[in-house]
Amino acid sequence: MNKIGLLVIGCGNMGTAIIDGILKRNIIKNKSLFIVEPNKAQRIFLERKGLTVFNDISEVNLYKLKINAVLLAVKPQIAYNVLLDLKNIMTDKIFIISIIAGKKISFFKKILGNKTSVIRVMPNTPACYGKGITAIYPCKKTKNANLDITKLLFSSVGIVIILKQESKMDIVTAISGSGPAYVFLFIEHLIQSAVDFGLDKKMATVLVKETFLGSSYLASISDKAPEVLRNDVTSPGGVTEAAIKVFNKNNAFHKIINNAINAAVKKSVKLSQ
Ligand SMILES: NC(=O)c1ccc[n+]([C@@H]2O[C@H](COP(=O)([O-])OP(=O)(O)OC[C@H]3O[C@@H](n4cnc5c(N)ncnc54)[C@H](OP(=O)(O)O)[C@@H]3O)[C@@H](O)[C@H]2O)c1
Repeated sequence: MNKIGLLVIGCGNMGTAIIDGILKRNIIKNKSLFIVEPNKAQRIFLERKGLTVFNDISEVNLYKLKINAVLLAVKPQIAYNVLLDLKNIMTDKIFIISIIAGKKISFFKKILGNKTSVIRVMPNTPACYGKGITAIYPCKKTKNANLDITKLLFSSVGIVIILKQESKMDIVTAISGSGPAYVFLFIEHLIQSAVDFGLDKKMATVLVKETFLGSSYLASISDKAPEVLRNDVTSPGGVTEAAIKVFNKNNAFHKIINNAINAAVKKSVKLSQ
């Protein structure tokens, strides 16, 4: 595999999670990892990790620093301006990895040129504890070696899957990109119900969090399908069944989830136009 020299542009929540994973797994040494981050407090935090951090893209010399990959981790609203700045320092040796939600390959190529190799990536926040799931879609110009580098980088923060069509990014964004928020919403409401029915908040929080952790672990390692695991807990005429019947009355649980995912997919499609 090619030696990796990586420039990360924008190092907030997601950028930091990825950098931490890369360093922890020793995938890239500190001296081959560079960051552009305008937030002063964040810059100091990153410099304390022994990293070289620039305030502005114009300060970076990609050739001199032997950088061959640029990871874009800025908010979508500023992506256009960041790409214009990047264009000024680009060399044809560089390939682009973008985690920017909703920005299609064509968006990058329009600014950086059609020959640029762009890999679109959708991670999620459990990446900050090495438990992320990341979907990758490489453009047709992507060399296998660059795809391998990208897989390696993101395997440092969890599991990696490869998409065959870029259009699948919208549903992936709605399911695994945004998914942690839905899980946290369920956790919040289960805690609230536990409190409503008499538990103190501290105990309710432990019960609910551990139930989610244990159940997710079981679902992830078990050979049994989720519905089989659910049936294992649900004795006929029992306590669990009483609750499941309420969730499933008139297919309400499925309908609300489907409606929510539909809204998320539509939003993702709209944002990427
Ligand atoms: N969070 C998620 O769950 C998730 C999942 C998948 C993909 N993503 C994508 O990941 C990207 C980053 O999300 P995030 O949650 O990490 O956002 P974030 O915490 O706001 O991080 C973005 C960072 O970029 C910095 N920045 C602003 N202008 C810049 C510039 N001109 N050059 C370089 N850096 C600049 C920001 O600094 P300031 O604070 O000073 O503005 C901030 O530190 C987004 O495009 C998002 O769509 C996020």
